[in-house]
Amino acid sequence: MSDERWTAVDDYLNEVFVADDPVLDSVLAANATAGLPPHDVTPTQGKLLYLLARISAAASILEIGTLGGYSTIWLARALPADGRLVTIEFDRKHAEVARANIERAGLSAKVDLRVGKALDVLPRIEAEGQGPFDLFFIDADKPSNAEYFAWALQLSRPGSVIVVDNVVRGGAVVDAASTDASTQGVRRFMDVLANEPRVDATAIQTVGLKGYDGFVIVLVKSTETA
Ligand code: SAH
Ligand code: DHB
Ligand code: MG
Repeated sequence: MSDERWTAVDDYLNEVFVADDPVLDSVLAANATAGLPPHDVTPTQGKLLYLLARISAAASILEIGTLGGYSTIWLARALPADGRLVTIEFDRKHAEVARANIERAGLSAKVDLRVGKALDVLPRIEAEGQGPFDLFFIDADKPSNAEYFAWALQLSRPGSVIVVDNVVRGGAVVDAASTDASTQGVRRFMDVLANEPRVDATAIQTVGLKGYDGFVIVLVKSTETA
């Protein structure tokens, strides 16, 4: 099966499940104009994030890796009126574009965008007493996935959901000898998951207009430390 077929089917599914959405269209246009890398989740994946947030009745969300705020906006739209989303972005230019996009989406009051390296910002979020968060979306630099997951667990409660993007990488994840730091980062994170009794998790492979990849979904069962 070809990539063209995956894209054609994704286009079809977008027509069925993602209604005309001028705000999201303008976000992707702004990201392209600013020269951001096209690493946003696809529309159907954004809708999945939105649905997961609604299904779990999430009122507090933590995102690591904002880019232009495309996934941020999908997630923040799922929040109740008093809900809150914290999103962390390392790149100042990405954060600037995201801030304007989130404003245009009318979500500035719900979204707290923190600029900095996630491993610097996460301890501050904890020190501020934020959390536990109901839902996490981990989608930043892949070599740090295991550390981000440890932080998510730390800032979670039993019942929290953790979604981790880009864990299949065109199938590269099965290559134990890979010299790619992102692939090794994903594999190290997978090892952590396989040996973490406090969670239940699975991974789903995906194809679509951004190729072949996949995501992990985690349910936190317990937050007791061993
Ligand atoms: N979640 C976005 C896509 C994120 S792309 C969406 O689906 O729309 C990954 C982002 O993580 C990039 O913007 C990159 O600058 C950011 N990033 C990379 N390393 C980071 C770090 N150490 N801390 C915070 N953000 C980081
Ligand atoms: C990359 C990062 C992402 O989060 C993504 O969804 C796709 C690609 C990347 O760094 O190549
Ligand atoms: Mg991603």
